[in-house]
Amino acid sequence: MSLFVVKKSGPLKGEVCLSGAKNAVLPILCACLLTDEECVIKQVPPLKDVFILIDILKKTGAYVDYNEITEEIKIKAVCTQGDVSNENEAVKMRASFLIMGPLLARNGEAKLPLPGGCPIGSRPVDLHLKGFEKLGAKIKQEHGAAEAKCTKLKGGYVYLDFPSVGATENIIMAAAISEGVTVIENAALEPEIMDLVNFINKMGGSVFCFGNGTIKITGVKKLHGAEHTVIPDRIEAGTFMAAAAITDGDVIIKNAVYGHIKPAAAKLTECGVKIEELQDGLRVCSNGRKKAFNIKTMPFPGFPTDMQAIFMSVMTMAKGTSIVTETVFENRFLQAGEMQRMGADIKTEGRVAVVEGVKKLTGSRVNAPDLRAGAALIITALAAEGKTEIGDIYHIERGYSSIDKKLRALGADIIRLEESEEKSQ
Ligand code: UD1
Repeated sequence: MSLFVVKKSGPLKGEVCLSGAKNAVLPILCACLLTDEECVIKQVPPLKDVFILIDILKKTGAYVDYNEITEEIKIKAVCTQGDVSNENEAVKMRASFLIMGPLLARNGEAKLPLPGGCPIGSRPVDLHLKGFEKLGAKIKQEHGAAEAKCTKLKGGYVYLDFPSVGATENIIMAAAISEGVTVIENAALEPEIMDLVNFINKMGGSVFCFGNGTIKITGVKKLHGAEHTVIPDRIEAGTFMAAAAITDGDVIIKNAVYGHIKPAAAKLTECGVKIEELQDGLRVCSNGRKKAFNIKTMPFPGFPTDMQAIFMSVMTMAKGTSIVTETVFENRFLQAGEMQRMGADIKTEGRVAVVEGVKKLTGSRVNAPDLRAGAALIITALAAEGKTEIGDIYHIERGYSSIDKKLRALGADIIRLEESEEKSQ
């Protein structure tokens, strides 16, 4: 098993460039199944989740050519095969369920393994399936798989009980080549969804998002191939913002889109960090002990659940008591126990965590419990005395491309040890 070994570092200084957003890339790659023409997607980071999805797309019969150096991917889905229910990888990676909408719309049927729960919550897909039903699909769930069938999808009215990111994306993709108009209310409006919508519209689709959580999709007969560059990763931006804050650094995040990271910028400003909006990014400048602050996770434009653990890192050493309320997932404080091993004072009760800032953290051996919690441990380790060893880093590498190299370029003391090196140390 590989490890990140992190020593107390800082202040971090310099410039960092964000990769394409994981959560935009994955649905966009799935949307390429909506056409039989070639699509070219740029800024596709070489992440574990991207490679898993590429394999699943190939199983549907799509031709996929990914150049990791140029980060460009070409996809041509001439003939799509809709039964991928035996793919184990599809069970492991929830985002692969996003191929259901395109396959159903294109082939009239799709069969996928039900993704199941994960450590952060039960994460059902009922809203995706209810949405397909509203478009006229018949759904069957048995033997751990979900099957959707229809003769022709027809536009319909979908009210989402919760603005689910995945359900909104899956329903948009299915409706894009259906007959008639679909309206989704209480839809999620994350920047990654806007990126997917922009791509579908480049393919000849007709999707319109209203600011009030309503999305209108006018189905078209056929979509054509298109070229698209994925937006920069706002969660990666938040990760470097927190790294700059906790190390009293001065970091320019080159291609960050300010409009995407406003909640994170607001919170850091509140705790005493200077955030400067630049023409092509932003500058994060921190000096001295941060003040305690509270966060409550919400769908966009609220504070993103994916940055919750990362910002808890900053709270661990802030002056005073900070409170985190997690409203999106039922069990998303997996980082707390690991941070406590490093000397943090955190109490969790259901969806609330109370963090008493301490003056000193100490390096220790911890494990990344999930993707963002793992990234949060790296950030915390940058401020902890001595050495922290982080195991289970495959979680982190699902969603961050070269996080160790990018942090090292800013002056952080972080190395990645391979299994064999770890044994010989
Ligand atoms: C996406 C992101 C993930 C992020 C999350 C919330 C991708 C690939 N992943 O995940 O990083 O943390 O949005 O911003 O984009 N729910 C249901 N029924 C459903 C669907 C969801 O009850 O059918 C619930 C979930 O259990 C969860 C909440 O809705 O409690 C939000 O989930 P959702 O927005 O769907 O997250 P994902 O699309 O899975």
